[in-house]
Amino acid sequence: MPVTAGLISELAERGSISGDRVLVSLVLEPKTAALALKLRDTGAKIAVFASASETDPGIAAALADAGVYVFAATDNAQLADPELDADNAAAALAWQPHWLVDDGAHLIRLAHTEAEAALQTLRGAAEETTSGIRPLNEMASAGELRMPVIAVNDAATKTLFDNRVGTGESCVIATLDQIAQSHGCDAVRELRQAVVYGYGPVGQGCARAARSFGLTVSVIEPDPVRALSAVVDGFAVGGSAQLLPRADLVISATGVWNTVGHADQGLLRPGAFLSVAGGIDGEIAQPVAPGLRLLADGGGINYTAGEGNPLEVMDLSFATQVAALSQLTETVKKGAGGESLPPDVYPVNDAAVKRVASMALRVYGYSLPQLPATERVGGAAQHWRVHRYKKTN
Ligand SMILES: NC(=O)c1ccc[n+]([C@@H]2O[C@H](COP(=O)([O-])OP(=O)(O)OC[C@H]3O[C@@H](n4cnc5c(N)ncnc54)[C@H](O)[C@@H]3O)[C@@H](O)[C@H]2O)c1
Repeated sequence: MPVTAGLISELAERGSISGDRVLVSLVLEPKTAALALKLRDTGAKIAVFASASETDPGIAAALADAGVYVFAATDNAQLADPELDADNAAAALAWQPHWLVDDGAHLIRLAHTEAEAALQTLRGAAEETTSGIRPLNEMASAGELRMPVIAVNDAATKTLFDNRVGTGESCVIATLDQIAQSHGCDAVRELRQAVVYGYGPVGQGCARAARSFGLTVSVIEPDPVRALSAVVDGFAVGGSAQLLPRADLVISATGVWNTVGHADQGLLRPGAFLSVAGGIDGEIAQPVAPGLRLLADGGGINYTAGEGNPLEVMDLSFATQVAALSQLTETVKKGAGGESLPPDVYPVNDAAVKRVASMALRVYGYSLPQLPATERVGGAAQHWRVHRYKKTN
């Protein structure tokens, strides 16, 4: 992951987190392991946490062997323990991290409820995904958020590539793989109609990827602008009663609880497949109606049953995480001298986002045009008083 590595090298040179404890709470698979190992170049102590359903125990064990602090299952036998996730989450916060890279804001919420002692050492967090930003915004507006959080998810170098491209591709490929593995390749060939719930960046990616595999895709989206955007992109939109009876495959890309509830399930024909791209608990109501075929137990299909997002995409997401960590650590650490970040949800700053994109272009072998710099604020070529309709006499 060269872009991430480049950003980490810059952070290491600045030395702003040397000696600090950084807790990384992300799906624990090889790309996250590479991030954790590389982050050690900064001089920080690194720990990882992940729930059992989002952990590859072999990877967790390898990280533990390499000296990373691991709060996750390191062998398959541990996966049977029903208290494993709660115990590991509590232990990860008791490790007293200074900085947290969170996913779904699960540990941030734990620290604001049952594990408040963690707030004494936690100085800030960076949040990876849309479903984590939503509760954080609610906490901030209720005055309940007690640390600064950077909304990594909302940075263009995350949403435009991870949510909009990588997630759609990896979710649709993992969906088709799962269908082939459990019901045979003919079941994949027989798929004709797909319905995607939600036309945010993830839904857009899923709809495009499903279409590229020859499926006819329709979209259920309550936001009129996004629904219109789906129509312009060539997808039919409508309500569940209209679209579901014909569906062979349903993909939920909302990250909203009970998106495919029992009423909607009742509209589907027996044998229809259900897949989740969003990934929050209960996105598809369970147990599913008899005859429906739920894939990957209703977990986010690309990371519970597939290999997660493509490497190149995660390189950009992790590089944006590192940019956020730099922004956070450097601004909050200045707190001793007077400047600090009050608790709130902040965007990744523009310069950092451009830095990630520029580094990625350079790594891929592309360059940007050298245009003459304008000194005008706003970039116009002439002073705003110069305009088209001035009288000449
Ligand atoms: N699987 C992954 O690797 C992965 C990666 C990135 C994001 N995500 C998750 O995917 C989910 C979607 O992300 P996004 O960035 O597109 O979010 P978003 O909020 O931009 O879009 C979600 C869309 O769903 C629509 N929606 C909400 N409830 C609905 C319902 N009941 N029926 C139909 N549509 C509904 C909303 O109007 C919105 O347009 C989030 O939970 C995010 O965390 C997963």
